[in-house]
Amino acid sequence: MSSLNVGVLGFGTVGSGVVRILNEHQDKISQITGYDIAITKVLVRDLSKARRYENTGITLTTNANDVIGDPSIAIIVEVMGTIETAYDYVVKALQAGKHVVTANKDLIALHGDHLITIARENNCDLFYEASVAGGIPILRTIVNGLASDHLKKVMGIVNGTTNFMLTKMTSEGLTYNDALQQAQALGFAESDPTNDVDGIDAARKMVILTRLSFGMNVSLDDVSATGIRNLTVDEIKLADQLGYTIKLLGISEETNGAVDVCVTPTLLPKTHPLAGVHNENNAVFVIGEAAGETMYYGPGAGELPTASSVVSDIISIAKNIKLGTTGNVFNSYVHETNKLADAN
Ligand code: NDP
Ligand code: HSE
Repeated sequence: MSSLNVGVLGFGTVGSGVVRILNEHQDKISQITGYDIAITKVLVRDLSKARRYENTGITLTTNANDVIGDPSIAIIVEVMGTIETAYDYVVKALQAGKHVVTANKDLIALHGDHLITIARENNCDLFYEASVAGGIPILRTIVNGLASDHLKKVMGIVNGTTNFMLTKMTSEGLTYNDALQQAQALGFAESDPTNDVDGIDAARKMVILTRLSFGMNVSLDDVSATGIRNLTVDEIKLADQLGYTIKLLGISEETNGAVDVCVTPTLLPKTHPLAGVHNENNAVFVIGEAAGETMYYGPGAGELPTASSVVSDIISIAKNIKLGTTGNVFNSYVHETNKLADAN
């Protein structure tokens, strides 16, 4: 069987999961793709950190060119975070003809449009399933499973950190700071959790979801975002006593041909399906003209759930390479409305 080499940028929570899943599920993955997929090089900042990757044949480096410039590597996986550095590396990778998988919603929300253009120019695949709702395959569902429908509204709990915090503040009476500390310790929160608690992370995910759901080229400036920083345990308890749950929702709704997008703490009746989504779980509730109400639920963050989405993207790319049909992205219609997206 021929081999397909992967270079990974970043070896933190998600990167470690990608190494683990590719290693542990390699027989199944080889069967599906027809390739022995191997991670050969990983970019890190600090070579002296202890990491779990023994016997995997991986070389660690602090030089991005060792990975991106390696002609034997066909696929680059960007799981390092950051915006500008990640952007530079992903552009270089695509221009070098490498297919790219990223989990970086900040990068895709801000520069996705441009990266898609570069991917197409270079006949490269660019996938980013893990960028929204971690382990839930929501982007494929929207562009494939719901492709025939006309979507009217998409409402999501798309930030695991704040949902975890709200759950702990409601059910265990934890203070805001204690709940945040627990989310950080469990690896859900961003390295700087400001974007989580202020609704910016959710807003970036809603930009990506809205583009794919409605074909509208929204930007972060189009999303009004309020986070949970000012919510008190007393407010959460009062809502609870009145039969409501407070959730940080991203809401994207089509009205009269335009789409409104916001992120805001919302009072949900406890009977609403989204009210039952607890801890770091995410859920996306979609209303379509034909399918009606559907909901997609699962872990929105964490090592293995997020890595499973990343590895599924790698598998899609491997299949495309095998078939000679590369040049795919999730979104083929960012600038226009009411056209179908192409993806696989
Ligand atoms: P971590 O902070 O755990 O890991 C980041 C990794 O990238 C580290 O290995 C770090 O190296 C490396 N790194 C960071 N900056 C540089 C740099 N400039 N040069 C070289 N290496 C660098 O991040 P996560 O794994 O949590 O997240 C990765 C990406 O996935 C982010 O975009 C995040 O938003 C996204 N994501 C994360 C989820 C999660 O649950 N954690 C869920 C969904 C998406 P070193 O180890 O040496 O410090
Ligand atoms: N910090 C993010 C969250 C990670 O809590 O949802 C997943 O994107």
